[in-house]
Amino acid sequence: MPRITFIEPDGTVRTVDAERDESAMQAAKRNSVDGIIGECGGSCICATCHCHVDALWTDRVGPAGDIEADVLEFEATDVRPESRLACQIAITDALDGLKLRVVGRSR
Ligand code: FES
Repeated sequence: MPRITFIEPDGTVRTVDAERDESAMQAAKRNSVDGIIGECGGSCICATCHCHVDALWTDRVGPAGDIEADVLEFEATDVRPESRLACQIAITDALDGLKLRVVGRSR
């Protein structure tokens, strides 16, 4: 079972078990990770699941897709090259150990 570490907006480090094929947002919600709201249910429209991917993981996670990048641009704050929407990160065994910093609610 892949494990993901979330760094909550206040700096609290939370490591959770994720199910294969769920999204990082779903894993966060299931484990009550602070700052991940997931208002749109994973439809890639709200940006309330915005995270910064740890530098060691950006290559493996990959960049945001075109629609995701648009949502980040228009709905999120503190957008960086390593920004991703957690609902668009599908968990696989290859992401065991992934570290995400939760940015928090969009404006
Ligand atoms: S849950 Fe809405 S964009 Fe991720």
